[in-house]
Amino acid sequence: MKIFECKVCGHIEFDKAPEKCMVCRSPASAFSENAAAIKQPADATALNDSEKKHVPVIVVVKNCGLLPDSGCTDVHVKVGEIPHVMTKEHYIRYIDLYLDHVFLSRTWLSPEKCHAAAGWHLNAQSGLITAVENCNVHGNWISEASI
Ligand SMILES: [Fe+2]
Repeated sequence: MKIFECKVCGHIEFDKAPEKCMVCRSPASAFSENAAAIKQPADATALNDSEKKHVPVIVVVKNCGLLPDSGCTDVHVKVGEIPHVMTKEHYIRYIDLYLDHVFLSRTWLSPEKCHAAAGWHLNAQSGLITAVENCNVHGNWISEASI
């Protein structure tokens, strides 16, 4: 899968550049293909401690407590298996969420008062969830999970 990166805001799109960046509204010309825009663990089956602090962990909950009987699917994302720090010097800036590789939403996180985690209420009962998180020091990391 091709990875395109917005050079203005860092937003990632898959397969092709959008007409406009869904995060900062820059035109398609702001995007360039960059396979290195997302970091990959050296061995996905044996993460080292740094990778465990950055690879997002996706938890899907099919019975939503906030919107019961609506078919809502809750998607929770934490960074990561070992919780990432949220200090002013080193923190998770945002988590972007996708369904079937189509961008849905960005959650911005502030250091100190936010945990390295976010949640969404999706009007979807199936599909592939992708989470991309951005660490201000260590860049973008990705995880995927099926609903
Ligand atoms: Fe980091």
